[in-house]
Amino acid sequence: MHRFLHLLLYFLVFTGCTSSQKNNTAGFNPYSYKGQKKVLAENGAVVSAHPLASKVGVEILKQGGNSFDAAIATQLALAVVYPNAGNLGGGGFLVARLSNGPLLAVDFREKAPAAASHDMYIDNTGEARTDKSQDGHLSGGVPGTVAGIFVYLKYAKLSLDKLIQPAIDLAAKGFVITEREARGLNNLQDELKQFNTVMPVFVKDKWKAGDTLVQTDLAHTLERIRDNGAKGFYEGETARLIVEEMQRGGGIITYQDLREYNAKVREPHVFTYKGYTIAGMPMPSSGGLLLHQMMKMVENRNISAMGFQSTAAVQLMTEVERRAYADRAEYMGDADYYKVPVSVLSSDKYLQWRMKDYDPAAATPSTMIKPGITTEKESEETTHLSVIDKEGNAVSITTTLNNSYGSRTVIGGAGFFLNDEMDDFSIKPGVPNMYGAVGGEANAIQPGKRMLSSMTPTIVLKDNKPVIVVGTPGGTTIPTQIFQTLINILEFGMSTEDAVYKPKFHHQWLPDEILTEKGFPAAVRSQLEKMGYKFANEREGIGRTEIIRVLSNGKFEAVADIRGDDGAEGF
Ligand code: GLY
Repeated sequence: MHRFLHLLLYFLVFTGCTSSQKNNTAGFNPYSYKGQKKVLAENGAVVSAHPLASKVGVEILKQGGNSFDAAIATQLALAVVYPNAGNLGGGGFLVARLSNGPLLAVDFREKAPAAASHDMYIDNTGEARTDKSQDGHLSGGVPGTVAGIFVYLKYAKLSLDKLIQPAIDLAAKGFVITEREARGLNNLQDELKQFNTVMPVFVKDKWKAGDTLVQTDLAHTLERIRDNGAKGFYEGETARLIVEEMQRGGGIITYQDLREYNAKVREPHVFTYKGYTIAGMPMPSSGGLLLHQMMKMVENRNISAMGFQSTAAVQLMTEVERRAYADRAEYMGDADYYKVPVSVLSSDKYLQWRMKDYDPAAATPSTMIKPGITTEKESEETTHLSVIDKEGNAVSITTTLNNSYGSRTVIGGAGFFLNDEMDDFSIKPGVPNMYGAVGGEANAIQPGKRMLSSMTPTIVLKDNKPVIVVGTPGGTTIPTQIFQTLINILEFGMSTEDAVYKPKFHHQWLPDEILTEKGFPAAVRSQLEKMGYKFANEREGIGRTEIIRVLSNGKFEAVADIRGDDGAEGF
């Protein structure tokens, strides 16, 4: 009966039969909607981690919105239907190309609260407390997502209340969860009980596919944003709920931190590769610079002749990845607080020098590149959406809570997860974060500073027109996945699906081992082992790449990753 009532409500809401709902999603039913993995479209396309969110975005395009409208509606819908990484309580980055040509980057990365300090996660025995930087209230940075949306809202055509209403509806009425989502929530139960002061709606004896997830508190938070703009989040009732949650659970985010948070418009990190222009995110994401370094280190090495996943190509890409990530650990951080030598690190001269000890017959041990110690953990929950429209706007947004479901703390009464992004700082030199990445002073904690990210929202242009809009989650594996996806397309001439779906691999300098995904060719692995490479345990999936390509006939080919429930939409 309960389910039937919801179905009825949905029918009324999504078919436009009620005048009170400002809905934008006519014609689809969240109870049966499975989405598509690939679409070919002429007018616009959206691809994201959740079919409902992609559907929300494409309906906005159909109503006359542009890529920014669709991206905002999709992003807000993801905050509801993809709570492990879509968010209001986290942050991220946008890279865009405006229809009249200019490129844009928006940084809405979380910030360290004013009360944060260099050694806040080191206890009195000198031990680094990664439990504190990764779990619960103290692991949260000041959220940036809502501020970011209000920065790029000015490039949108429709009003915020139109763009946010589908998210409000999905939160208030609920949506049906999949097998994968049920599994994610079931795995979370102990941590939810441990890290919350008010038990959130996600707590339940057992979730199963087909259950409806209703998020009333989150719907009210979204309504406050609809009615009061960014102040609906950073001030007033939502701010009160955040600060009271901090006080109950030992967090340090204050009213002042929230009021003073600002998203920043930045110059995209732009470079060229064989006639293409590639635009990515500058600091505080390492993504754009790492991609630049890796692409340039292979550019003159005729990798296409080596062939996709030949031993030679994988070895070259591994050595390139190793060198770029060694630089990440030493030199990269929030450039507003630390002088990052971007032009040196990306100069052709430096990158040629960087490869001087590359040996095509043997592994270069990471200790020869730079010493360090590390371990690895697998948790890489971030999410990406790509959007394009026929006006020529292209938007690439990656957002994150850091861990899956962030700190696992839900703001009591506000219904959204707080990030655990503080762990992306280097909490102590040489101590790895949850991705096994190490760092030093460049990425040390300072009040107000943004923690170094790996997010790599990317747009590839040819003759100043977008040809690829791409990004992925995956923590430190993000830049290597984008690197490999672009090399697969630009050098190996692969189809979009193959470029995304074929098994990926990853090397990040430390730990000195290659991480491979299930299906990576065993023969290549054993040849590389003979050359001195070590391999980590194989992984089920690396990244969830969401890509749109503009084909030579002008059509948009949108492909959603098969590693998750992701969906592509277009028209
Ligand atoms: N939290 C993952 C990243 O920003 O790279």
